[in-house]
Amino acid sequence: MKLALLVAILSLIFAAPAVAQQQGSATRGATLYQQRCGACHSMDANRVGPMHRGVHGRRAGAVAGFRYSPALRDLNVTWNDATLDRWLAGPTRMAPGTTMGMVTPNAQDRADIIAYLRSPAAH
Ligand code: HEC
Repeated sequence: MKLALLVAILSLIFAAPAVAQQQGSATRGATLYQQRCGACHSMDANRVGPMHRGVHGRRAGAVAGFRYSPALRDLNVTWNDATLDRWLAGPTRMAPGTTMGMVTPNAQDRADIIAYLRSPAAH
């Protein structure tokens, strides 16, 4: 009985990282966003990069008043989990000629940042 409980708890603990990898942590993503994206982006103002509120679900290159590179303006994708993952892994690979050079090589970091961009806090 006690052993069964212990096994159940341990399997929950070891299963947790796999779940996090899939879904991403919006809380951790918010911190990463501040640290790594905040120099150029904010939710509500165009800075070096375009504003991000509502970016998950929006067409690429669609923020009014931001001067996109032709590469991003003509990219013709909608930002979702898959396209954002490709973008963050290598913006210049996905859109050669883009002016965003920031690469996020770690898959968990990308999943967490995307979870944040998908969350109500970013809409
Ligand atoms: C050094 C400045 C800089 C940093 C740091 C940066 N970006 Fe960008 N980002 C840009 C610029 C500039 C563009 C517009 C690129 C273009 O027009 O080709 C852009 C565009 C984007 C777009 C496309 C938005 C749209 O409206 O289509 C997304 C999404 C994005 N960035 C996400 C991020 C995330 C997430 C991070 C942090 C991991 C990040 N960026 C870090 C400068 C930056």
